[in-house]
Amino acid sequence: MNKGIAIYPGSFDPVTYGHLDLVQRGLKVFDRLVIAAVANPSKDPLFTLEERVEMLKEVTVHLKAVTVESFGGLLVDYMRRYPGAVVLRGLRAVSDFEYEFQMSLTNRELDDGLETIFMLPSLEYTYLRASLVKEVAHLGGDVSRFVPPQICRRLIERCRERRRA
Ligand code: PNS
Repeated sequence: MNKGIAIYPGSFDPVTYGHLDLVQRGLKVFDRLVIAAVANPSKDPLFTLEERVEMLKEVTVHLKAVTVESFGGLLVDYMRRYPGAVVLRGLRAVSDFEYEFQMSLTNRELDDGLETIFMLPSLEYTYLRASLVKEVAHLGGDVSRFVPPQICRRLIERCRERRRA
């Protein structure tokens, strides 16, 4: 049975174990998953678009059904490249709901055919948020439980650079 394509958009600044958990869950439901890193996240990113894409590729290289791309502008416009695909988003807690609800309904207002599918991450990642991981790294805390080792190294290095600047 063809299970279709899902596009998983986000800032991924940087990718965390929570994102990877959602990718694994998405692959149970969809044949193909495209992780789409947004070019201009709402908050000033710690990593450039190229770095965020590179890191996503590194940590998903073993997943043949996953590709990593980036997009600028509106998500609805980017989605036109994948007719019939749905948007995949993670819902960690009730606190996520309002923003996700507004975003998916706004997207549907912009393109009536666009559907968003929400999946729940594993309980152990429900609290995980890239912005908090960055804050912990910035303040010298251990983030090895939150991100894969290669991302951990890059985070420590980037935070060191920022502190020096
Ligand atoms: O990981 P994030 O920051 O929660 O992801 C948010 C993202 C990238 C999915 C959202 O900001 C987005 O789709 N941005 C693209 C611009 C756009 O379409 N904005 C209108 C959304 S209703």
